[in-house]
Amino acid sequence: LTGAAALLPPGRDGRHGPRPRRLAHVPAFSVEMPLPPVARPVQVRPDADVYQVRIKPARVEIVPGLLTPVLSFGGGFVGPTFQVRTGRRVIVKYHNDLDRAANVHLHGGHVPSVSDGHPMDVIDPGRFRVYDYPNTQQGTTLWYHDHSHHTEARNVYAGLHGFYVIEDPAEAKYGLPRGRYDVPIMIRDALIGQDGELIYDVPDTRTTLLANGRPQPYFRVAARKYRFRLLNGTTHRLFRLRLEGDLPLIQIGSDGGLLPAPQRMRELLISSGERADVVVDFSRFKPGDQVMMHDTSGTVLRFDVVRRARDHSRVPDVLRPLPDLPEATVTRDVVFNLDLTTPKWRYLMNEQEFDPARVDFQVRRGATEIWRIHNADVERGGINHTFHLHLEQFRVLDRDGEPPWPTDLGRKDTIYVPPGASARIKVRFTEHLGRYVYHCHFLDHSSLGMMAQLQIVP
Ligand code: C2O
Ligand code: CU
Repeated sequence: LTGAAALLPPGRDGRHGPRPRRLAHVPAFSVEMPLPPVARPVQVRPDADVYQVRIKPARVEIVPGLLTPVLSFGGGFVGPTFQVRTGRRVIVKYHNDLDRAANVHLHGGHVPSVSDGHPMDVIDPGRFRVYDYPNTQQGTTLWYHDHSHHTEARNVYAGLHGFYVIEDPAEAKYGLPRGRYDVPIMIRDALIGQDGELIYDVPDTRTTLLANGRPQPYFRVAARKYRFRLLNGTTHRLFRLRLEGDLPLIQIGSDGGLLPAPQRMRELLISSGERADVVVDFSRFKPGDQVMMHDTSGTVLRFDVVRRARDHSRVPDVLRPLPDLPEATVTRDVVFNLDLTTPKWRYLMNEQEFDPARVDFQVRRGATEIWRIHNADVERGGINHTFHLHLEQFRVLDRDGEPPWPTDLGRKDTIYVPPGASARIKVRFTEHLGRYVYHCHFLDHSSLGMMAQLQIVP
């Protein structure tokens, strides 16, 4: 499966694959992993917290000693982290100071369609747009990123991504690690040229692994439990994460919130756009010890244990139960397929490229549906795809009739679908009306057409 190709169409010169280039030398473990800044409201109203963020070009240090031109939310390579609360409305005014259109999608957010960052709802250069987030959903780790039509892959690769964490007062009772022991980590890849420039080429060339925007950093920890909110912020990659010595990754949550019970994982498979909320217990280590986090393609980051600390946090055996969903009344099929027979390859869902003027599925609000997602791309060694649905989280029912994978549990909004495989998901469209997209979350694919649209009607 890991051999499955990251195919993109040939470039203008007709070549496949990377062009020769001089790349930056990227030393490992030479910088500390930063935490993205926390967004601060510019106004606290009785009914909402109001924020302002500028979408702007910036020059940031990714590789030590080099400045990299990026596109940014607020000036940093990883945008500011929103820390919001269930039940508390948030309004964000985004100004677009770029020379091109951009927009903001709150990935995993239950938001009205006007605030969803539909690919056609872009913010033109010099303009602004106000996004209104009701935050009616339970606590979880969301993220926000550009979703502008055809340009989302380049823009997100260039830095238009950040965390949006919903804290839930109803979850305080679990006693999970919090405060400075609750750490968001965005893992992504990059190809960096010798002058520090970020190079957008075929996904296979992105060999530098970044954690919160720095290459293979170290992160100082105390010998106690931590909650890490892991996000695969790549536009096109699978990570299989492991801790050195098989230290367990205790998964407590997935895309849409806490799991019913924690799961001890040795390996975590996480594809573009997915989140995994994990607890790692460093209490068996002493100051001076180091623990690597590896992907199958290389080391992502190193945890340096630097001190002992008291730890009153817990991981209870029982977390947040999942309510039953009603019986499904509608079933649908979604098929990913690349047409390689035409000179310009076609990236298709149900045999069609994305057309914003077309509604692919009409859904009744309140309906519960079962969708079968199939990846039909088995030729050339197979092509990987991922499936992401806007607005609602779903449950994975099965994969080719077999039980879901351990990483499928809980409320999901993004899953990996290997070549030739199918997954069945069940989803209830509980609120909001209007148009939302679903697509392959390899944004290099969605930007070329592998996307479709549903309309929710009363
Ligand atoms: Cu994370 Cu439609 O996107
Ligand atoms: Cu795809």
